[in-house]
Amino acid sequence: MPSVRECKIGLLGCGTVGQGVVELINRNRSAIRERSGVDLSLTRILVRDMSKPRSGVESRLLTNEPEQVIRNGCDVIVELVGGLEPARSFIERALNNRKPVVTANKALLALDGLGLLNRAAANRVPFGFEASVCAGIPIVRALQRGLVGNTIQSITGILNGTSNYILTRMDESHLEFDEALREAQAKGFAEADPALDIEGHDAAQKLKILSELAFAGSLPPNGVRVQGIQDIAQSDVEAARKLGSVIRLVAAAEAQNGGISLRVQPLLLPRAHPLASVRNENNAVLVKGDAVGEMLFQGKGAGSLPSASAVLSDIVEIASNRRAVPRTLRRALSTTEIDLEYARYVRFPVPEPSAIGTITTTLAKYGIAVARAAATWARRPGERHEVKLMTLPCKEARLKLALREIVASGTPNGNYLAVPLVA
Ligand code: NAP
Ligand code: HSE
Repeated sequence: MPSVRECKIGLLGCGTVGQGVVELINRNRSAIRERSGVDLSLTRILVRDMSKPRSGVESRLLTNEPEQVIRNGCDVIVELVGGLEPARSFIERALNNRKPVVTANKALLALDGLGLLNRAAANRVPFGFEASVCAGIPIVRALQRGLVGNTIQSITGILNGTSNYILTRMDESHLEFDEALREAQAKGFAEADPALDIEGHDAAQKLKILSELAFAGSLPPNGVRVQGIQDIAQSDVEAARKLGSVIRLVAAAEAQNGGISLRVQPLLLPRAHPLASVRNENNAVLVKGDAVGEMLFQGKGAGSLPSASAVLSDIVEIASNRRAVPRTLRRALSTTEIDLEYARYVRFPVPEPSAIGTITTTLAKYGIAVARAAATWARRPGERHEVKLMTLPCKEARLKLALREIVASGTPNGNYLAVPLVA
C-alpha cells in the first residue's frame, strides 16, 4: 500500500475562504488522501474575533495569537487574512522560518509578489498563490507550467467575480447597481472593501499577477490603466441591451512595441462574444500563446468553496513535493499604452436636454462622427436629464480631447461615462 504523507496546516484567517478550506477538508479529507496520498489536518486557526460563530470549525483550534499558528509544528502556513498588514508580516515570518506558504492575497502579491517569491526562493521553500487569481480556475498553474512552452502574446479576461455578478444581475434581473452589490457582498464574493472590486483595482491586481507570470518579469506598480463599473447605471445596461450587447469589466494585457499594455475597463460586448456569456461570479481568461493559439479558461472566480479548492490544490502539491522552490526573478518589464480605436457609448448628465447640440458640435470639431444621439428627460425625483450617444470608431486620445473640452465648457453637470463597443 502506498505511504501516506501527513500535512499539518496552520491557518491564518477563517472568513469566507478560510471557512471554505475547513469545510473542504472536513468533507473531502479521505477522498484527498486516497487520490493524492496526502492526509490534511489543521493545527491552529488564527481569527480576530474568537466569539464569532463558525459552523464546522472546532473552537479548540481557534486562537487570536499569530505565533500560536506560525510556530506550532505545522507543515504549511495558509494566509487568508487579506490586506497588506499584518498579512505580509505573517507571510515573511513563515518564510523566514522555512515554512512553505500558501496565500490568496492578490493585493499583497500585486504590490510585491516578486519580493515574496524571491524571499521564498532565498529560504528554499515553496510558495503557492493559485487562489489569488480567478479562485477555482487553475490559471496560475496553467501559465507557470502548462503553457510554459509558449511566448504569451496576450491575456484577456473577466477577473472580478463581484463586478461580473453585479453586471449580470443588472442585465438579467434589472436590479439597480446598489442592490446587486449588496447581493454580491452577502454571497461572500466582495472584498472587505468592495470599492476594490467595483472600481476595478482587484481586477488590476490580478492582471498584474498574471502578466508577471506570463511575461516573466516585474511590472511597475500602478502600471494598469483602470476604469471601474461604479458609474454604470441600469439605463446603461438597458442601452447595451438595445445594441444587442452586454457590459462586462474586461482586463487585458498585451505585449506591444517592447512593452506590456495593461488595462481594466468596462466594455460593451456583443452577446455572441466568448466573454459575454460569462455570468454571475464566473471568471474567464483568454490566453493567446504563439504555440497553442487561443485558450479559454472559465469557472467560478469568487466565493468560499471555489477559492478553497485552489488553496487545497497548492497545499496538496506542496505536501507531495511536486511544487518546486520558486526561481529568483529580477527582470523588469515596462508598460506601454495603445491608442485604441473603438466606437463608444457615451452618457452625459446635463442641466437641459438642449445641451445635446453643444456636445455633438464639439465632437464634430474633433472629427468624431456620431452614429446616433438622444436626450432623455428626468421623469422621477433623483433622475437627471441625460444625453446618450454612440460614436463611430475613433481613437481614444482624440475622444479624450473632445470630452475634456465638453467638460470644460460646463455643459455636463456631472461625470460622463464612456464605454467602448467591441465589434
Ligand atoms: P474575510 O472573509 O474578511 O476573512 C478574513 C479572516 O481573517 C477573518 O477570519 C478575520 O477574522 C481574519 N483577520 C482579519 N484581520 C485579522 C487580524 N488583524 N488578525 C487576525 N485575524 C484577522 O476575507 P476572505 O473573503 O476570506 O478573503 C481572504 C483573502 O482571500 C483575501 O486576500 C482575499 O482577497 C482573498 N480571496 C477572496 C476570495 C473570495 O471570494 N472571498 C476569493 C479569492 C481570494 P474574524 O473572522 O475574526 O473577523
Ligand atoms: N472579490 C474578489 C472577486 C474575490 O469578486 O473576484 C475573488 O478574488
